[in-house]
Amino acid sequence: MLEVRELSTHFLVRHNPLARFRHPDHLIRAVDGVSFDVSAGEVFGIIGESGSGKTTLARTILRLCKPSSGDVLHHGRSIFAMNASELKRFRRTAQPVFQDADSTLDPRQHVGAILEEPLLIHGIGDAGQRRHRITGMLAQVNLSPSFMQRHPSELSGGQRQRVALARSLLLNPEMLIADEPTSGLDPLVATQVLALMLRLKQEHGLSLILISHDLETVAYASDRIAVMYRGRIVELAAGDDFSERAAHPYTRFLLGVEMRLPDFPLLEGVHEHGHETGQGCPYVASCPHHLHDCHHIIPQLRETSQGHFTACHAVTRQ
Ligand SMILES: Nc1ncnc2c1ncn2[C@@H]1O[C@H](COP(=O)(O)OP(=O)(O)OP(=O)(O)O)[C@@H](O)[C@H]1O
Ligand SMILES: [Mg+2]
Repeated sequence: MLEVRELSTHFLVRHNPLARFRHPDHLIRAVDGVSFDVSAGEVFGIIGESGSGKTTLARTILRLCKPSSGDVLHHGRSIFAMNASELKRFRRTAQPVFQDADSTLDPRQHVGAILEEPLLIHGIGDAGQRRHRITGMLAQVNLSPSFMQRHPSELSGGQRQRVALARSLLLNPEMLIADEPTSGLDPLVATQVLALMLRLKQEHGLSLILISHDLETVAYASDRIAVMYRGRIVELAAGDDFSERAAHPYTRFLLGVEMRLPDFPLLEGVHEHGHETGQGCPYVASCPHHLHDCHHIIPQLRETSQGHFTACHAVTRQ
């Protein structure tokens, strides 16, 4: 249903010309040669640490960001070749759910108006039908009709995320692209929202791209999981295959079964300027297994055991 083909989104960060001597312009390979497919009804999980390119990937898939190269096909049609009316239809079928419902819900509007807006934009129903649909959807996310009169600031974080979910589902999408949908919530509420999302996914027959930096969240919910590191997918396998047969040294580090090189600074944001040359394995500096090739040949994903793909020169096929 959705095919991502060799997708790259690079950002050129320009510095003030006067400061260029000390801070030259540099290229950030936020997403770098990513390929995967998502089929109907599938939950496709994406994990990776902060700065690994997850949000940029989601934004590019939604055509909110322009790719440097590669393509995204929706039912075989490139989303970057779509005209305005095709794009409007695509936007209706592929709905985002973002981390921070706070910033996506208009604080001046009450929930009823927030939920009516997408229906109005797409010209769906008359006032009575829209109201009926909105109250029905609120019930599906376990909120009573009285929430229609409330403003986002009068809701809890979990309630806001459920309103955001209701808004995404009102247009009967085929797919949700959820970027850290539960990360601002406390653990109990996060579990409830995730369970609700999976139930709705089942009931509506949706596909779900579930992005998180938390391996546990993704592992529990996903049919397949891609592990991203510095813009690239380093491992891709079925969710239940992961804990036992994780092969990439970075995934094994995430799972706590292997170390990464100790001199690597593990501070948040350290990757922001790294990986500029686009040569070699993105993980080479941290990898205890690196070989000569790892420094100058980018490892491509290959099947290292059945249905299990790893991008690593040091992993041998099982
Ligand atoms: N508009 C932009 N201009 C320049 N650089 C950008 C831009 N957007 C993202 N980046 C850079 O691209 C890289 C990937 O960022 P991205 O937000 O996709 O990561 P992420 O995996 O979603 O991280 P997090 O887990 O913190 O949300 C980072 O180095 C970031 O600084
Ligand atoms: Mg992000």
